Amino acid sequence: MDENKPVLLSGVKPSGEFHIGNYFGALRQQVELFESGKYRCFIMVADYHALNTVRDAGEMRRYTYDLVMTYLAVGLDPEKVILFKQSDVPTHTELAWIFGTLTTMPYLMRAHAFKDAQEKNREINVGTFTYPLLMAADILLYDTAIVPVGQDQKQHIEIARDTAEKFNHTFRDDVFTLPEPYIVPHVAVVPGTDGRKMSKSYNNVIPLFASREEIARLVMGIVTDSTGERPENVYAIHKLVRSEDDLAALYEEHRGQYKILKEALIEDLDCYLTPLRTRYHELRRDLGIVEDILARGAEEARDTSARKMERVKKAIGVL
Ligand code: ADP
Ligand code: TRP
Repeated sequence: MDENKPVLLSGVKPSGEFHIGNYFGALRQQVELFESGKYRCFIMVADYHALNTVRDAGEMRRYTYDLVMTYLAVGLDPEKVILFKQSDVPTHTELAWIFGTLTTMPYLMRAHAFKDAQEKNREINVGTFTYPLLMAADILLYDTAIVPVGQDQKQHIEIARDTAEKFNHTFRDDVFTLPEPYIVPHVAVVPGTDGRKMSKSYNNVIPLFASREEIARLVMGIVTDSTGERPENVYAIHKLVRSEDDLAALYEEHRGQYKILKEALIEDLDCYLTPLRTRYHELRRDLGIVEDILARGAEEARDTSARKMERVKKAIGVL
């Protein structure tokens, strides 16, 4: 892997099963970017960030493995990227502490996630409050140039930039480089089976690795508007797996025949997803593959971040 390429760092919280909305809306484009050859890519499972909400050891382990298996199943080549777990690299939490000593409470109180929780009168744990500082450490330890994120995470990149500047200025040493957000180009929202945005929280998803039977059951349950000539919720998913030219003919031929159109969608979706599902189940049978990849990734991430941490320690005078 070319150490001179600009660094891309991506962090993902292990938080449960992927659905086709995640895949067509984000995952597919991400993997393409990682494999473009333009960057040295670090892909981090943000398990310590997830600890703010995942409070069950079995669940944490399952979600973590699942996340890695999902990336591999959709085609990410583990030889081309560095895949690691945040908890395997202690420099992240160590640096987050140092950042906490430089950051004021009012500054962190301006973060969207904190303000949201406060407005909803939710109890806020310290981990949620200092979340952006751990994320700043994740990013800054690797001299990251770009961080692919959705719009909702943009503020966190600004916090990482501010934190880097504050550190460099306070200790009069250019230890950290400033990262840029890379906002993944907007893609159409994939509707769920009830017509709203497909989302875990709405219980309307088609899981990415659903069996054919499950796909059939879920597609048959898609709500359709009985007056329209074209079932839009069916079509919106269909066009992700088959060309719009093909679909124009098919939907014209079966105008108003929702059942036939749904059966066609089941067939096309199953055909598209079968190779992904097969790879996923192969990986599940041998978790050693995932463990090896994470162990290799951890070693490389530890090496790279240790060099930065040494500079940090020298800059603050503990070394
Ligand atoms: P969920 O709403 O199911 O909790 P997440 O918020 O975890 O999904 O989303 C993870 C990624 O997948 C984000 O980048 C998000 O933009 C994308 N994504 C999620 N749902 C959809 C959808 N229905 N259509 C398009 N993209 C989506
Ligand atoms: N906060 C990000 C999210 O919720 C996850 C994350 C943690 C992250 N550390 C990161 C993303 C570092 C990019 C870079 O999606």
